[in-house]
Amino acid sequence: MIVRPGTERLVAPRTPTGIEGFDRLVQGGFPRGSVNLIAGPAGSGKTLFAIQFAHNGATLFDEPAAYLALEESRDSVDRVMAGFGMDLKGLEEAGKFFLIDLGAIRAGSSRDGVAVGLRDLEDFLRSCIASTQIRRLVVDSVSAIALHYRSPADLREEMFAFTRFLRDTGVTSLLITEAPEGGRLTRFGVEQFLADSFLHLALEDVKGELRRTLTVRKMRFTKHDTGKHPVHVTREGLVVSEERVT
Ligand SMILES: Nc1ncnc2c1ncn2[C@@H]1O[C@H](COP(=O)(O)OP(=O)(O)OP(=O)(O)O)[C@@H](O)[C@H]1O
Ligand SMILES: [Mg+2]
Repeated sequence: MIVRPGTERLVAPRTPTGIEGFDRLVQGGFPRGSVNLIAGPAGSGKTLFAIQFAHNGATLFDEPAAYLALEESRDSVDRVMAGFGMDLKGLEEAGKFFLIDLGAIRAGSSRDGVAVGLRDLEDFLRSCIASTQIRRLVVDSVSAIALHYRSPADLREEMFAFTRFLRDTGVTSLLITEAPEGGRLTRFGVEQFLADSFLHLALEDVKGELRRTLTVRKMRFTKHDTGKHPVHVTREGLVVSEERVT
């Protein structure tokens, strides 16, 4: 356990994810207004983690959320939510959850026919944040957009500007990026340096069974746990186990 009695007041304000077993690893949640990154291979649980972060915000913490489905389709996010009994339609009607796909962002882009870039996303989000009450944001995924940049230097510069923009909005964001299995920690090798926190999900083969794990690799302003923890998918969604694996 991280927070020792008497030290709580030193902790910056938190945005709890509400994901069972996770918040205790990071002094109660993400730092409020921070830019967080989650990486992992296909099927490791990135989308599910992000959906729960956004949905719990809307339903438990009075923090409406926008979920940008860029690589995932709106339909697939909707289906995952329905599989866990989340009422997307009701939340959308109440203005608490906005599930937005690439088509909507492209329609707002001035650069007709050109792939959507981080600047288009910034323009879109600026008006989205101005016209809604969102306090949480998910981008699933930034790898989808980053693919269009010519060089890692271009990407790094644009990502830097984008993360600064996100921090300035005051919204707590969670960006998803792919992690190639057994290779680099993130798809482009730059994302983790620009975010305030970096969570890594892994899928490992243990005696012929796949095991999911989560490690908090970095979280600025936070005395965080550094262990690798098993993650289970239950009827309520992802649950991070207290035990550590080696
Ligand atoms: N309703 C459900 N019940 C049980 N397990 C589920 C359910 N929905 C998803 N899962 C599990 O979660 C996994 C998918 O997790 P998720 O879609 O979050 O992964 P991801 O990291 O986003 O993958 P990708 O990179 O392909 O987008 C599935 O492979 C499945 O094992
Ligand atoms: Mg996904």
